[in-house]
Amino acid sequence: TGNQPTTSTRHTPGTQPMGRTCPFSPPEGYRTLREEDPITPVTFPDGAKGWVVSRYADVRTVLADPRFGANRRRVRPGDAPDAPLAPPPPGMFIMMDGPEHTRFRRLLTGQFTVRRMQKLAPAVEQIVADQLEAMAGAEGPVDLLQAFALPIPSLVICELLGVPYEDRAEFQENSSMVLRLEASRDEVMQAQSAMNEYIHQLAVAKRAHPTDDILSGLVQSEQLTDEELAGVGSLLLLAGHETTANMIALGTMCLLENPEQLAALRSDPALMDGAVEELLRYLTIIQYGLRRVALEDVELDGHRIEAGATVLASLSSGNRDATQFPDSPDALDIHRPYRTHLAFGHGVHQCIGQQLARVEMKAALSALFDRFPTLRLAVPADQVPMRDDMLIYGVHELPVTW
Ligand code: HEM
Repeated sequence: TGNQPTTSTRHTPGTQPMGRTCPFSPPEGYRTLREEDPITPVTFPDGAKGWVVSRYADVRTVLADPRFGANRRRVRPGDAPDAPLAPPPPGMFIMMDGPEHTRFRRLLTGQFTVRRMQKLAPAVEQIVADQLEAMAGAEGPVDLLQAFALPIPSLVICELLGVPYEDRAEFQENSSMVLRLEASRDEVMQAQSAMNEYIHQLAVAKRAHPTDDILSGLVQSEQLTDEELAGVGSLLLLAGHETTANMIALGTMCLLENPEQLAALRSDPALMDGAVEELLRYLTIIQYGLRRVALEDVELDGHRIEAGATVLASLSSGNRDATQFPDSPDALDIHRPYRTHLAFGHGVHQCIGQQLARVEMKAALSALFDRFPTLRLAVPADQVPMRDDMLIYGVHELPVTW
């Protein structure tokens, strides 16, 4: 209309809300959708036709409904959005449905045991302490993402899988390539196959000499082919590395920008469990939500969703829904009474690494603020480069000093 401000908070009908006005909050358009049009038809930026679901309850309904499939891969790159789907790559169970998904999920649940997670906790604390020591030796300002947040989950997953330390730089490079929105299809495929090849070789080594880690456990179960093992291994790396790293870095920035909350947390470490849940809810780094495909025609609250349509379940919008979080959902409140949030998804695909992610976040945040009581941003908050362009939200860089 010409006289609208460019950062209009109104939602443009028929589109997926984009563009943040606050670095910690989802696009404002989601508020309008939740209030006025919670299941809305859109054309996605890639041309796919579908729906955006924005209320907490509806997000859960979609994610729990087996008539929505998790596989969105087309047979050929660049195929039309309504072209037939390609089968998921071996072991990529995050894209599988039904019994095929269940087979992998059971095997993995058997490996992510309470015993193994407890055993891992001291190793996580040691990894955190080592990174902090290295950081303390540097002259500030330091990029907290590179110096602290990225290495921690990378090293923890290496520990979990039994990957040697020397190989982690290559992982970091490959996994960030696979997740970069502007990367070409070829770059992504290349990074993906390099990762698969590496884990394949590691699995062969574990078969000959099993150790106490997930990859050895999976090898010994004798249920998976080498290709499936490689797929599962790279899925764990992809799913567990940048997610946790961004929660640590963005969580740190968010606490620094909410000094009263940080002060309360420092004065009472018992608040840490609640603070981590609240940061997960408030920041919801899977910023564009979870995409599903209707496997048949589905009737959803009076809307007819046609077979083949893409449905975007917005986790970040659902996590700001006042019906579920009645007390100022748009504020960070580490004292908030716990209510189930959507940051780890919902339904059969709900994050299998969530306990590990919590262990890592707690260890990282408490040790960081202990070690550097005067930690602060080294640039104004509005100059921190944000990951608006990535599937996983966070910071590209977090300059801090102390
Ligand atoms: C699935 C978020 C850390 C492994 C998921 C899903 C979400 C999520 C939203 C659901 C995906 C879907 O339904 O399509 C997160 C966040 C993390 C985190 C926010 C950090 C704060 C981890 C870690 C690991 C991990 C540390 C493993 C080491 C997985 C796997 C799946 C998954 C394997 C697929 C499960 C399935 O399809 O059954 N995660 N995750 N995640 N996550 Fe995480």
